[in-house]
Amino acid sequence: MDLWEAIKTRRSIRKLTGELSFSSLLKPLEAARWAPSAHNAQPWRFLLILDPQVKRSLAEAMAEAWVKDLIADGVEKEAAEKAAYRSVRMIVSSPVAIVVCLTMEDMQKYPDERRRRAEYLMAVQSVAAAAQNLLLALHAEGLGACWLCAPLFCQEAVRGVLGIPSDVEPQALVIVGRPAESPLPPPRRQLNEVLFINRWGVKP
Ligand SMILES: Cc1cc2nc3c(=O)[nH]c(=O)nc-3n(C[C@H](O)[C@H](O)[C@H](O)COP(=O)(O)O)c2cc1C
Repeated sequence: MDLWEAIKTRRSIRKLTGELSFSSLLKPLEAARWAPSAHNAQPWRFLLILDPQVKRSLAEAMAEAWVKDLIADGVEKEAAEKAAYRSVRMIVSSPVAIVVCLTMEDMQKYPDERRRRAEYLMAVQSVAAAAQNLLLALHAEGLGACWLCAPLFCQEAVRGVLGIPSDVEPQALVIVGRPAESPLPPPRRQLNEVLFINRWGVKP
């Protein structure tokens, strides 16, 4: 599959099936490792979850945190639990999950908040670049995947289940498997809606 085809045909696949070997994931993880990163600090870490029991514990911990948030928002307990249960089912039924994490270990240290924030955002951007490489490479290997943002909302719960140290941030969960659906591409904005030339607001 060439790059253009991979970019255009990759979809977020939420129905995943099959059994995956560790070795089938190595090439996509290699692709993630070759992403660009600020200062070449490579602030990504990947936690591959192959054990179904660990995957279930993670899904349940994230669901519990989500239900708490929804109830605090005023959502009825039953509706909150129904939404969270759907998410547990999606994660548990996916053969593999990869927690994409961020570390500031090799990023630059600054005394002021303005530059600390910029440095943190550079790390987030670098981790996102790695995650996109991962998604494209999984797709090129014939695998399906979906980027889930849930860990961002309950980093402590995720750390607790997986033993992730306090200076490493779980940023995303990528579920992986053989695609069991072929969703249509969600619409994209036209290029002329998102592109300006020379000055903000000037259309091509
Ligand atoms: C940062 C980020 C967070 C996302 N979080 C979720 C999520 O929590 N649940 C989900 O089902 N999809 C999630 N997605 C997938 C998007 O919904 C999806 O990429 C978008 O709708 C476009 O569809 P496509 O990936 O098939 O082109 C996320 C994607 C990104 C980049």
